[in-house]
Amino acid sequence: MKTPHFLQVYQENTDAIRHELLKGLSADPRHGGAWASPKFLYDALGSRLFEAITELPEYYPTRTEAAIFAEHGSAMAQSIGAGSTLIDLGAGNCAKAARLFGLLFPQRYVAVDISVDFLRDALASLQRQYPALEMLGLGLDFSDGLELPPEVGDGAHAPRLLFYPGSSIGNFSPSQALSFLRSVHAACGPLPESGLLIGVDLVKDTAELEAAYDDPLGVTAAFNRNLLLHINRLTGTDFELAHWQHVGRFDVPLSRIEMHLQATRDVTVRWPGGGREFIAGERIHTENSYKWTQAGFEQLLSQAGFGAATGWTDPDKRFAVYWAMT
Ligand code: AVJ
Repeated sequence: MKTPHFLQVYQENTDAIRHELLKGLSADPRHGGAWASPKFLYDALGSRLFEAITELPEYYPTRTEAAIFAEHGSAMAQSIGAGSTLIDLGAGNCAKAARLFGLLFPQRYVAVDISVDFLRDALASLQRQYPALEMLGLGLDFSDGLELPPEVGDGAHAPRLLFYPGSSIGNFSPSQALSFLRSVHAACGPLPESGLLIGVDLVKDTAELEAAYDDPLGVTAAFNRNLLLHINRLTGTDFELAHWQHVGRFDVPLSRIEMHLQATRDVTVRWPGGGREFIAGERIHTENSYKWTQAGFEQLLSQAGFGAATGWTDPDKRFAVYWAMT
C-alpha cells in the first residue's frame, strides 16, 4: 500500500496574524470600520460549528451542491475524463473529493488546506480505502493566489483537475475572484484537458438567503461570535460575547451576504499595547458571501482565461457547478 506524503508550505506567523487582526479591529468608521478576515472563523470549534451549519434546514448550499453531484456526476465525469491529478482546494475532511474518486478515477490526489495537520487523519484513512491511489497533503494558504509547488507533479503529463466546491469563491469580491481564478487557470498547466470544477451559490430571494445566514437555532450566530473567542486567543483582546450580536444581511446591489458582529452597548476592548471603543450599534465586518448569476459567473470564468464551461444546477437553480476547461 502507498502512504500519503505531506508538505507544509505555509507557516503560521503569529506576529503577522496579530498585526493583521489588530489593524482590522482598529479601523475607524470613516475608513469602512472594523473588520476581521473570515479565515479566522475556522478554529477547532468554528470548523465544527460550520459543519453544524451545513446540517441546518435553512442552509441549502451544501446539500444542494451534493444533490447536483448525485444527479449529474456521470455527465460531469464524461466531460472531464479519467486519469487526472485531482487537486482539492480547501480539502478539509476530503469527503467531497472522495465521493468523486469512483466517477473520475484520478491517478493522483492532492489535498490542499491551510493546515496539513488537519489533513493527516483524513488522508490516512482515505489511503486505506484507496490503497492504489497516490496521495499528497499540502499545507498552503492560497487566499492571495494559488501557486503549486513542484511536488504536485508535472502538469505537462497528466491533466490537472482543480476542485473548488462549496461556493468558497463567494468569500472573494468580484475583482479578487477574478485574480484568484487567473491564478487557478495558470495552475491548471498547459494541457487542454485540464480545468476547474467549481461550485457557486446563485442569487435568489433575500428572505431565503437571510434565513440561511441567520438561522432560528442560532448556529450561524454562534459560528460568527466564536470569532471573538478565537481573536482573544490570537491577540490577547478581551472581547466579551455578551456585548456582541450576530448580523447576517443580504445587500442586493452588492449581491452579497454580509456578516457582522454588532455591539449591543458601548464597549471598550483592550489588548496588549492598545485598545479601542465601540459605540452601541457599531459593527465589525466578519464575512462577505457573494452570490452570482449564472451569466455573471460564466463571464468571470471566461475573463479569467478559461475556455468552454459546462454548468449543472438543481431544479430550483439555487446553486451551480461548473466544469471550465483551460
Ligand atoms: C464556506 C464561505 C462557503 O459563505 O456560505 C456559512 C461560510 N458563513 N454561513 C458561505 C458561511 C456563514 C460559507 N462558505
